[in-house]
Amino acid sequence: NNQSTTHIACTSQRHDSKVNMNRILQRFSVASVVGRGSIVRFPERSFLGATFLTRRKIVPFSTTARVKSELAKQRHVRLGDTAPNFTAKSTEGDISLHEYLGDSWGVLFSHPADFTPVCTTELGRVAQLKSEWESRNVKPIGYSINSNADHAKWIQDINETQNCKVDFPLIDGSDKSVALLYGMLDPDELDAEGLPLTVRSVFVIDPQKIVRMILTYPASTGRNFNEILRVIDSLQMTAYKKLATPADWNKGDRAVILPSVSNEEAEKLFPGFTTIKPYLRTTDKY
Ligand code: BEZ
Repeated sequence: NNQSTTHIACTSQRHDSKVNMNRILQRFSVASVVGRGSIVRFPERSFLGATFLTRRKIVPFSTTARVKSELAKQRHVRLGDTAPNFTAKSTEGDISLHEYLGDSWGVLFSHPADFTPVCTTELGRVAQLKSEWESRNVKPIGYSINSNADHAKWIQDINETQNCKVDFPLIDGSDKSVALLYGMLDPDELDAEGLPLTVRSVFVIDPQKIVRMILTYPASTGRNFNEILRVIDSLQMTAYKKLATPADWNKGDRAVILPSVSNEEAEKLFPGFTTIKPYLRTTDKY
């Protein structure tokens, strides 16, 4: 993925000179020009030896600097890290993350903004899956850089349109601190002021507060929460049963015995397990 970004500054003022400039620039496969003091960013991608332009973005100089400075403040979370703790207002009262999770698993998930269509369906889906989270001892927590007041208003829409009751906390993200703490801001999703928004990040946190799964979907793609439940099932198989899960596994399918389990121990835990190769042992007794 040879992604590069071409920056072009242009101060042309008159429309015809813009058009001429456009033509010149397009001949060089670079960009079109819009207005005084603008930067035109054109990410290029290579495919089968050809370079072509994928997406046009027009970003004022001042915004680019602000975006960069905003993104530079972000920290990043990796698998195996202790989930950064935070205290924040939420739609369910003040929350201190670690204390709120207690002995439960957690799913901290961000979305771009309140009152947007895909996010409305996602939050509705999380609410509809209440019994699935509960049966796995999981607490979902939503996040966007909107205020508690926005969240509260929007929840009414979600409940009305998605036939559900949102009763898990949405964190007040108006100070962006959690987005910065977890590295949820995306350089390409900008708000009306041209500043980065969160996209669709998910952090699964175990009862020891260790981050066990991270995924990020683009703003335009709603997440599959059944897949997130499936991953939690798999993580819990490993945590509680010394089993891993093969490709496309679903609950009930044969699972894989962890390589760290000896054959002797495997015989006790999973009597009659199948050895396909010494390193590939399966069982459905779990
Ligand atoms: C949405 O939630 O519908 C959405 C948000 C940002 C970009 C695209 C879609």
